[in-house]
Order: sequence, then C-alpha cells, then structure tokens
Amino acid sequence: MACPADWFSGGRGIFGQRASFFCASHPTFRLPRSPFCLSAEQATIGIVRRKRVSPQSIHHRTSGDVDRYYRTPLSVQSYDAFNALAARTAVHFFVSQAKKFGSPVLELGAGTGLISWEVAAAGFEIVAVDLSAPMLEQAEEKRAAYGRETGNRIEFIQADMVELALDRRFNLAILPGRSFQHLTTPQEQRATLTNIAEHLHPSGGLVMNLFDPDFLLCLPGARPPSEEHLAQDPASGRWFRRNFLARKTDPLRQIFTEAVRIDALDAHGHANEGEETEWSLRWSHQQEMHYLLELSGFTVEALYSDFIGSPPAYGQEQVWIARRGK
Ligand SMILES: C[S@@+](CC[C@H](N)C(=O)[O-])C[C@H]1O[C@@H](n2cnc3c(N)ncnc32)[C@H](O)[C@@H]1O
Repeated sequence: MACPADWFSGGRGIFGQRASFFCASHPTFRLPRSPFCLSAEQATIGIVRRKRVSPQSIHHRTSGDVDRYYRTPLSVQSYDAFNALAARTAVHFFVSQAKKFGSPVLELGAGTGLISWEVAAAGFEIVAVDLSAPMLEQAEEKRAAYGRETGNRIEFIQADMVELALDRRFNLAILPGRSFQHLTTPQEQRATLTNIAEHLHPSGGLVMNLFDPDFLLCLPGARPPSEEHLAQDPASGRWFRRNFLARKTDPLRQIFTEAVRIDALDAHGHANEGEETEWSLRWSHQQEMHYLLELSGFTVEALYSDFIGSPPAYGQEQVWIARRGK
C-alpha cells in the first residue's frame, strides 16, 4: 500500500501492487473527482518547499515503540488515501485464505481495518490487533458504514503483537500490508511468530506479505524516491500529498528508516496542513523467512510474489502461507 516502502519494490505499495499515485514529473495531470487541476508548477511546490533532512538526523525506531508514522495525525488520516485502492486485490486474497482456514481470524497490525472490515463483511469473525490507538480509532470510525451484522463479527484490540496474550485460539492469523516488517529485530520477529503459533489451533494458518528486498536499494546512501504522491481519501474526499525527505539504511541490521512529509491539500491544491514523520522497516530474505517460520513452529505451504499466486520472484513481494505444526 503505497507507503514509504514503495521504493523497495519498484513503486509498489505495501500490498505489493502499483498504487494510485500521480507523479509530479508529469507536465499536467488532472485529479479524478477533484475540483482542482494541478499544473506541474503547482504540483511540485511540495518538492521545492520541502526541507532537506540529513540521513544522520534519522534515528531508527526503538524496539517495542510504535512507529512515529502511526502516531502522527496526518499520516493516520491519509493512510486509506494512499492504500485503499491497492488493498483491493489483497482483500480478495485474504478473504480466500479465510475461506480455506475458517473463522475466527486474528489480524496483527490491523491499522485502519482496510482488510479486517472486508474479512468481517465476507462473513468471518475477526479480532484485529494494532499497537497504535490513532490507527484503531480510524478503524472504529468505519463501524457505522459496515452495519451491525458485520460489526458484530469484528473486535479491535490495542496490543503489541510481540507480547500478545489473548485467551482465545484462532484458525487463521494474517499480517497484511507488511505489518511484520515493523518488527525491527530478529528477536521481536521470532517472539511474534512463536506467539502467533500459540494463538492458533493445531493446523491453523498464517498468511502474511512482506516486500522482497532489491539488493541495490539496501545499500547505504541509496536515495529515497524522488516523486511525490497525491491521493484522495475514499471516505472524506480529502486530498493528501506525500514526499520522501530522506532515507537511512542499515544493511547490518536490515533496516531502513524514511523521513516523510505529508500535506493535506485544500480545494485549490494548496497545502493547508503539513507534518513530517518517519518509519522504519526491516527487510528479510526469502530463505531467512523460511527458516524463521520453521523455527517458530510452522510448515511453509506456499510462497508467492503477489496476491494472484505468481511464483517467488526477486525484488517483488513475499506472500507466505504457512500452517502451524510440522
Ligand atoms: C502498514 S500498516 C498495515 C495496516 C493493515 N494491516 C493494512 O493492511 O492496511 C502497519 C500497522 O502495523 C502496526 N504495528 C506496527 N508494529 C506493531 C506491533 N508491534 N504490534 C501491533 N501492531 C503494530 C502499525 O501501528 C500499523 O497500523
């Protein structure tokens, strides 16, 4: 979904699909269903004005703390704008996995509920966990739109997936939108997977997606993407602009952190609110993930490079399907 991690997978978003953004390098572009049309000059205002941030000033997130990105108001408010469209294919895939493994479903790193609400709407009970209270508030705001019957099948819980301890067992655990990559140490990753195994019935499923790292982009000094993204929130109709200010890569720990600027735009395409934030993601190689899943009590059933079942591929997406047990 159209996140700062786009660059890592060739402009694809956190769901591994091309997102609905517009590139400011195009001479003129019209924003669909928008009262305004930006010229290249207007559209690049964000780039011209944006502050340069030195990679040295970026600090990787402390383990156990939620990324600043998910605590900053505009990042949270614009999440669906940048991700909802690209999430559609992922929704079909995760719903098909719920059909295969059955209710109840546990989602970890559920965010604004882009996937969880659709899983509930498809008839499955789901417990959706996230560490960020503001993201969960956005998710709860959708309750009225989905109606009581669907609402009765979904529960949002604020918790850290690393330390999750629910007194319930599930048939399927899902981590869409690269949530797993916000765990920035191997210890956190292993603790989470072991934890998930303990929350699953025997033979319960685990399905998640990560980006597959492009080695060239993992090098120190690799630059952040230069294009700016514009997107409209599907519910409120508000327009947002996102620019990447700087990027810091730590190949030893397999982490990159990106400084991001998000602006809310008025009807004339001018920024009327803006904020700078950042987030960190840890990349994992395919073989590393395979071993980690096995170590944590899972058997790998399949690895795809997208949500329509394409074979594993370098630099694309890692879509894992695993089952608890040997
Ligand atoms: C990229 S969003 C994905 C949201 C949703 N799964 C989707 O597909 O749209 C990542 C989410 O993971 C959450 N997150 C990060 N670390 C977490 C942790 N340790 N425990 C629970 N949630 C976490 C963030 O707050 C954020 O909402």
